Amino acid sequence: MMTLDAIRRPIEGLLKEFDAFVGAQFTTDGELLSEMLTHALSSRGKGIRPMLVLLSALLHAGDESRVGRRSHIAAMLVEMIHTASLIHDDVIDEADQRRGKPSANALWQSRNAVLLGDFILARNLSIGLESGQFDLVTHITRAMTTLCEGEVLQSESARKQLTSRERYFDVIRRKTASLLAVSASAGALSVGARQEEVERMHRIGEVLGMAFQIQDDILDFLQEAKTGKPRNNDLREGKITLPLLHVLERASEERREELLKRLSACHADEQEVNYLQTVVENCGGLAEARRVMEEYIEEALHLLSHYPASEARSSLEGLARFIVERLS
Ligand code: FPP
Ligand code: MG
Repeated sequence: MMTLDAIRRPIEGLLKEFDAFVGAQFTTDGELLSEMLTHALSSRGKGIRPMLVLLSALLHAGDESRVGRRSHIAAMLVEMIHTASLIHDDVIDEADQRRGKPSANALWQSRNAVLLGDFILARNLSIGLESGQFDLVTHITRAMTTLCEGEVLQSESARKQLTSRERYFDVIRRKTASLLAVSASAGALSVGARQEEVERMHRIGEVLGMAFQIQDDILDFLQEAKTGKPRNNDLREGKITLPLLHVLERASEERREELLKRLSACHADEQEVNYLQTVVENCGGLAEARRVMEEYIEEALHLLSHYPASEARSSLEGLARFIVERLS
């Protein structure tokens, strides 16, 4: 597997400029807000989305010297939508931990965490609009409503215990794949790629995003995961993700009802959590999720093969493999 450092190599300089740009733009003079903002910026994750923007920009520009401010603005827009959405997600899920650190809601209560997320979204939009890059702002902010739709669909699906694959794929396409799709396409758009290329990158980002979320859902069941989130969170939240979905699909009507009843008890009963964890492991739920994830990655690699060999293409291929093999 290519390491993240190796994947980043062709855009190392661009990523440094990007970090400096974000640090300079996201400031405030409110004392508490400033403290919360520092926490949000310093506990950002692997930066998959800005990597995708900048690698896609480089792939289409051909040379680093032709990737500039527009691409940095695109990377900022997607990364800060992502940052704000996770701050809000932790409020919704009442999660205490994110990436091995206390969440904003755990540190400053939900009411302040909501405002922190709002501030980041508002500042993000202001910077985007003030930059005058209206095509990028329009292209990227479209995903914000999709993210909200995904989150509401997911909450409704958990409450009603809906168990169709169609519903699961709809949720993950909206809540995760939509933002990776606009990351990849905005990278191409930011350097003036043709419409056809922008659309191809959109699909590449989307399938990478589907695979990314499926791996996230697999990692929730793995002891060896290093996500910095407690294991089996999804079961405790009553979420029916692909590994469990596969088990439910193969169960008899009676067994399905029993398993769903156990799932409802997971929020307060660790024995039920352990039971479902074992069932998913023993009934091939993880293997099936890996199979589906590989299909998405194959599609991404096939679409990338349309481009001539380059450092940027190799890094994007490396990123595709990283997404499915990562433990963090
Ligand atoms: C993480 O999912 C959450 C998301 C990918 C999307 C969250 C979106 C919202 C809260 C809607 C708000 C939107 C905006 C634009 C602010 P997860 O809970 O499965 O993953 P986790 O285990 O990492 O928490
Ligand atoms: Mg969550």
